[in-house]
Amino acid sequence: MKMTITIAIDGPAASGKSTIAKQIAKKLNITYIDTGAMYRGVTLAILKRGIEVDNVQEIRNILNNIELDFNFVNGVQHLFLDGQDAEEEIRSIEVSQNVSAVSALDFVREKLVDLQRKMAEKQSVVMDGRDIGTVVLPKADFKFFFIASPEIRAQRRYDENIARGINTQTFEELKQDIIRRDEYDSTREHSPLKQADDAIAVDTGLLSIEENVEYVLSLIQKTN
Ligand code: CDP
Ligand code: CDP
Repeated sequence: MKMTITIAIDGPAASGKSTIAKQIAKKLNITYIDTGAMYRGVTLAILKRGIEVDNVQEIRNILNNIELDFNFVNGVQHLFLDGQDAEEEIRSIEVSQNVSAVSALDFVREKLVDLQRKMAEKQSVVMDGRDIGTVVLPKADFKFFFIASPEIRAQRRYDENIARGINTQTFEELKQDIIRRDEYDSTREHSPLKQADDAIAVDTGLLSIEENVEYVLSLIQKTN
């Protein structure tokens, strides 16, 4: 009898993946894995070492010296880079603007996909990202693909920033960043953002967070 379950949630930026995945993980008492945080961690490590994101050779040289971990801080999962809590820094504008270039590199993806598969081997997980249902866990028990319009997604990021006292980007700038990143992520050669054939599409723009969680859980429980 299969003892573990794997849930894959993919979709574009700010479609609600991590918010919903965290709550699903809590309700089902399983582990949440934020793969976007891992790509952001590698990007931050590159920027911190003063390497340009188009310097492929240098990135290849240092990749194996980058140490990524997830640890809990006050009950919340944080990404640690080279032993330091980097949860805040990986969400900076600079990282957001450079992460798509780094995540398009095949050897970066190879390393992170390998780590992600190992994390999902021995435990039940809900994992979110861009290629979880298509590449990382093609045999996941449940696959969801979240969508919402760029306007709704930019408004969400804008509201989040305001709530955190950040007003460095206008709504229009955030929208353009999101559209540019979606385009880059969807058209790259290696593991582009794409709905798996067997994934269920969820338009999160139509749902409150509570409704979104309940809907996804109802689909999991119905077929489990
Ligand atoms: O939270 P947000 O949607 O803004 O982004 P994220 O999930 O933190 O992911 C940041 C970036 O990492 C994405 O724009 C992708 O370029 C990359 N990524 C990826 O290529 N594959 C994944 N499985 C997860 C993220
Ligand atoms: O992980 P991803 O980038 O896909 O998105 P997120 O960071 O989980 O969600 C972006 C924002 O959308 C958060 O502020 C959520 O609270 C919000 N959200 C929402 O308003 N309604 C939903 N149904 C899902 C998320």
